[in-house]
Amino acid sequence: MKKFFVIGNPINHSLSPELHNFWLEKYGINGSYGKVKLEEDDLQDFIQKMRNDEIHGINVTVPFKNKVIKYLDKSSLEAEKTGSVNTIYKNKQDIIGHNTDVAGFELGLRHTKINVLKKSVFIIGAGGVVPSIIYSLLNMGCQKIMLTNRTKEKTEELKKKFKEIKIIKWGKMPDFDIVINATSVGLKGDTLKLNFDVKDKIFYDVIYNPKETEFLKNAKNKGNKIENGKLMFIYQANQSFSIWNNVIPKIDEEVLKIIP
Ligand code: ATR
Repeated sequence: MKKFFVIGNPINHSLSPELHNFWLEKYGINGSYGKVKLEEDDLQDFIQKMRNDEIHGINVTVPFKNKVIKYLDKSSLEAEKTGSVNTIYKNKQDIIGHNTDVAGFELGLRHTKINVLKKSVFIIGAGGVVPSIIYSLLNMGCQKIMLTNRTKEKTEELKKKFKEIKIIKWGKMPDFDIVINATSVGLKGDTLKLNFDVKDKIFYDVIYNPKETEFLKNAKNKGNKIENGKLMFIYQANQSFSIWNNVIPKIDEEVLKIIP
């Protein structure tokens, strides 16, 4: 039986097991997917379990997406460019780190027919998922990427990695076609203290629980199109699943219902 896990800290909130176990059963694969809360000191031993096939695949979430890299044999291009690994698999004898958040973001946008080609995108926040979003936007031919964050130092770190981005001072509002909230503000019902007086733009929030953050609610009331991060989450899982099991699960109504 194939064993898969998502590792993180905290991990209780993770909905990855719901998706993966649904697909394992649907596609008749003898396997199980669980979640494990780890401490940083446990990472190496846990990943070692892939060497003797005790574990078949691992998803990695906050705060370990970067910390696991030193225990791997190889990284994919996406993992290298973003410094972020969310999927670990074995190829022959090598333990490989990959980042399916990049494809997850792109496939989620395509699913909703949001086209970023030649568009200006304004990203708010500099947390763990932002390098993946920037790299994905660059691949999709977005014209301009602007970034702001409450703590300036983090924007400077990202600018070192992605020279193409333009840093916007916290509180300033540039012109944009699409704005992405990649902060954790909104998870607990609070709201970003930024004033958006625009309409006919696209507002995207990486948060999908709650379904509509204050950021999205306000934007919708003003006549903007809104989208949350649910599809990104589903598609990153879908891509991990296909790497481990050689099946690309279908994204249909039934799957969409699994994530509230
Ligand atoms: P993760 O890596 O889990 O995504 P994180 O690294 O803690 O989480 O990043 C959370 C993001 O939300 C950061 O950009 C953070 O801004 P700071 O870098 O200034 O901390 C942002 N954030 C959290 N609370 C915020 C608040 N009240 N106002 C503005 N930004 C906030």
